[in-house]
Amino acid sequence: MCGIVGYIGHKEAYPILVGGLRRLEYRGYDSAGVSVLHNGNIQTFKCKGKVSGLEALVSGAGVPEGTVGIGHTRWATHGPPNDVNAHPHTSGDGQLVMIHNGIIENYGTLREELTARGHQFNSDTDTEVLIHLIEDIRRNADVSIFEAVRIALNEVVGAYAIVVMDRNTPNQLIAAKKGSPLVVGIGREGDYYIASDATPIVEYTKNVVYLEEEEIAIVDVEEGFKLMDIKNRERTPYVQELELKLEALEKGGFEHFMLKEIYEQPRSVLDSMRGRLRPDVGRVELGGIRDYIKRFVHAKRIIILGCGTSWHAGLVGEYLFEDLARIPVEVEYASEFRYRNPVITEEDVVIAISQSGETADTLAAIELAKSKGATIIGICNVIGSSIPRATHAGSYTHAGPEIGVASTKAFTAQVTVLTLMALHVAREKGSITESRFHRLLIDLDAIPDKVERVLEKNEQIKFIADYYKNVSNALYLGRGYNFPVALEGALKLKEISYIHAEGYPAAEMKHGPIALIDEEMPVFFIAPRGGAYEKIVSNIQEVKARKGKIIAIVTEGEKQVKSMADHTIEIPDTDECLMPLLTVIPLQLLSYHVAVMRGCNVDQPRNLAKSVTVE
Ligand code: M6R
Repeated sequence: MCGIVGYIGHKEAYPILVGGLRRLEYRGYDSAGVSVLHNGNIQTFKCKGKVSGLEALVSGAGVPEGTVGIGHTRWATHGPPNDVNAHPHTSGDGQLVMIHNGIIENYGTLREELTARGHQFNSDTDTEVLIHLIEDIRRNADVSIFEAVRIALNEVVGAYAIVVMDRNTPNQLIAAKKGSPLVVGIGREGDYYIASDATPIVEYTKNVVYLEEEEIAIVDVEEGFKLMDIKNRERTPYVQELELKLEALEKGGFEHFMLKEIYEQPRSVLDSMRGRLRPDVGRVELGGIRDYIKRFVHAKRIIILGCGTSWHAGLVGEYLFEDLARIPVEVEYASEFRYRNPVITEEDVVIAISQSGETADTLAAIELAKSKGATIIGICNVIGSSIPRATHAGSYTHAGPEIGVASTKAFTAQVTVLTLMALHVAREKGSITESRFHRLLIDLDAIPDKVERVLEKNEQIKFIADYYKNVSNALYLGRGYNFPVALEGALKLKEISYIHAEGYPAAEMKHGPIALIDEEMPVFFIAPRGGAYEKIVSNIQEVKARKGKIIAIVTEGEKQVKSMADHTIEIPDTDECLMPLLTVIPLQLLSYHVAVMRGCNVDQPRNLAKSVTVE
């Protein structure tokens, strides 16, 4: 959700802050703001809208000087996006400013108490309440800013990543975290960078400390870096080296991050398999789960948790694990699972899937399953994020940073890792024949080249996008392994082009959605050759009989569907269980082109944010 950036050191803070906000804008983009401290004065600029609006505001007023400052890009929770609700928020006495990501759940009670003590609030935010609480504690207890923050954090319920700047302590920034991520970069020149993820930090330093739950960092240009917790115990910082590369955060000549990420898939799928898939020696090896493989083999059940696209990847995982490893699987929306009092046993293996590794609902669902004794395995993309740290073991997807809000390469990377995992378990369990196992290794190895071949269809897909760009509704239908792809195709279209789209198992159409079909309704069929092919051909005929527009993804050389469909997109053949890795690509491209043609902001669709760190 919101993006947080802070700097303290010897360089001018504003360019670092605004550059950081541009990198973080994918986390939230309904308002932006900065505060810079110089000679005992804090200058704050903030406004509704994007970081570019903030830059225009600042350049009109004159760039603030100062070597310490904080900045924020917001995804609104409390109160609408407007200038007043934008961060940073200031204490009543104007001495303190703060930026915040998360939700203070007891802010209503705190606000009433503080109002009774004479505090006045300008905004609707929980953040303003927290900075007033810190001010109140500091004034009444006459304590340091660190101590005031620490005491205040013991009074709040909820999630936070905060950075506090104090006019009277210009050599320090105080940062704290619970439930929302925060990382401190340790610069080479005695300077410090604080951010909600490493993207604004990587161009300055590779040395970072990810804060753990309820830790408070005191970064001081004179006294250095000190880590405490909210119980006032000193903690030892664990300094790690970032693997992130700066080029990975640039558009690299593409018009949008989403398009770049779609085109990266031959490479990212390969990276997900690198060192893990060995067709030459007939082996799959996932080092991250090696010590837990027996738990899989003896699991009575696998529960897969995720949200959005990660949940769709989880559905593909269900087909894979049941088909190859013969283990019953349940796929759960993390947000429902966590509140449902689910039956979980010590013999369950839970796979939590998340690109960001920060999704609040997935994290909470993991904690619940862990508390019941289940084994928790993570499949995440962002190295060092909260979910990999909360799980017993897991495998990173190694897809590289995904900046576009619409998830693309993360999906194919997740499905690749799930495939490797299912194959690994199936082999250990003896539930797959030697010949199928070896054939699948060879087929999987060929997938990156086949993805490349699907990408070559871009111009044809763009043509189809132009044809359908003005529709108001769309249906996506698939069966078996391609049912989750239908859901994913519909999600991609709706989230970036705002066209209402639904995904269904094709056979379910007769139970309701068929009523929607008329000559205006485009129906996207995912219909490659495979077990359900004949059935889906019948479903296509049913749509054709009702004059629906048919766009079908078919296997190269296919004739039957071609003769019925208005448009077909041919993809290379592969084993049925690997098909989602190919069939999803045209749907990603199609959504991308439709959104661009409709003038939508592809990388920053309205109301969305890249990582959903609030429930
Ligand atoms: O970071 P996660 O994979 O946990 O995120 C889950 C969803 O928020 C995410 O997939 C979302 O649905 C995307 N916008 C889909 O494109």
